[in-house]
Amino acid sequence: MREDVLDAVNRIDEARLWDRHVQMARIGAIPGNGVNRPALSDDDIRARRLLISWAEARGFSIAVDPIGNLFVRREGSDPNAPPVLAGSHMDSQPRGGRFDGIYGVLAALEALEAIDAAGMKTRRAIEMVAWTNEEGGRFAPCTMGSMVFSGARKLEEFVGVTDNDGMRLGDALAKTLAATPDAAQHAFGRPVAAYVETHIEQGPRLEQEGRTIGIVTGIQGLRWFNVEVFGETAHAGTTPVSARKDALKEAVAIIAAIAELAHDETDVTRFTVGRMLVTPNSPNSVASHVLFSVDLRHPDPARIAQLGAAVEPLCRRVARACSVKVTPTLHDDPCTFDAGVVGAIERAAGELRLPALRLPSGASHDANYLSRVCPTGMIFVPCERGISHNEAENATPGDLAAGARVLAATLIELANR
Ligand code: GLV
Ligand code: MN
Ligand code: MN
Repeated sequence: MREDVLDAVNRIDEARLWDRHVQMARIGAIPGNGVNRPALSDDDIRARRLLISWAEARGFSIAVDPIGNLFVRREGSDPNAPPVLAGSHMDSQPRGGRFDGIYGVLAALEALEAIDAAGMKTRRAIEMVAWTNEEGGRFAPCTMGSMVFSGARKLEEFVGVTDNDGMRLGDALAKTLAATPDAAQHAFGRPVAAYVETHIEQGPRLEQEGRTIGIVTGIQGLRWFNVEVFGETAHAGTTPVSARKDALKEAVAIIAAIAELAHDETDVTRFTVGRMLVTPNSPNSVASHVLFSVDLRHPDPARIAQLGAAVEPLCRRVARACSVKVTPTLHDDPCTFDAGVVGAIERAAGELRLPALRLPSGASHDANYLSRVCPTGMIFVPCERGISHNEAENATPGDLAAGARVLAATLIELANR
């Protein structure tokens, strides 16, 4: 590795990076060492402000776009060259951990600071980005900020999405944007030279195989649906079962049928129903309406397409007395990352003598949408026992810093291309 690159990489400050994770984990802290920081909530706003305070202390410039994606920029010597972006997200699952998403944001800021402290000039600007609403736990679907940034979907499609309390995304977004009045405003459609996302693996392989760095090759395909079952409420004690339109009973039958469809001896297919809203939600009233989510994943494009296409006909076939509405909410084809970015990450890990491994991502990431508009790659670091979307999520300060070092070296290479 070149002397000047090594000098910048060595300025990654493990203690500062860890301390920032600790500070961020206080915002939305929940019992069990976890974090509940829903997208566009007051805690999301607090986290954004804290991040901006660190970035401004270094003299970096701040910008937002209309969906609230937050950018921190370190200028390059050619201000007209499209920037290299690195980041992830700051929102969390309702019972999330201290690393999912926030690590990629803090690692990118750390890389910017290390490069800056070394006084290194890069041809392109490097920008840290925090994508809005990656998790989709409050406002479905997930990866909304990157989806709109990449032009795959329009912001107008999402402003009317409501959370479980009936709050509109458009209103929560307006409040979030109002909280950063001094940020520059970016329109969508800016060209980007490359994107690199750093993330905990969220699976067990790196830990099991004793590797520090995961060189991510791509992301598996994903389909989301909202399934609504419309029945009729009735008295639980007096209404004969044969006369009922029981929306919850039929929802359960539909879920069992999808589980059967997704059954896979090889255990590659993933099927999850993680959200269910029942109306009127009373023990002694027959349910009149049920809404539940469907999350299906598979790495093979043909298999995920087949599974996705089967959901609506199957729901219609299984429903008896009730009617059903199936709304697709997310359609992510599997993606393969750019060979040039994957190669740069692999080279950086090798030159830093970090044990590394190529692997695909089972989790979804904003990198999927970025890969549609620019050369993209991801860096994984180990997390304890592969636990994620759980308060117990854990990673070591040393591994987090190692991932940030690989990121810094990769960004320097990409920003000088
Ligand atoms: C992201 O958190 C995902 O659902 O994979
Ligand atoms: Mn994540
Ligand atoms: Mn997540």
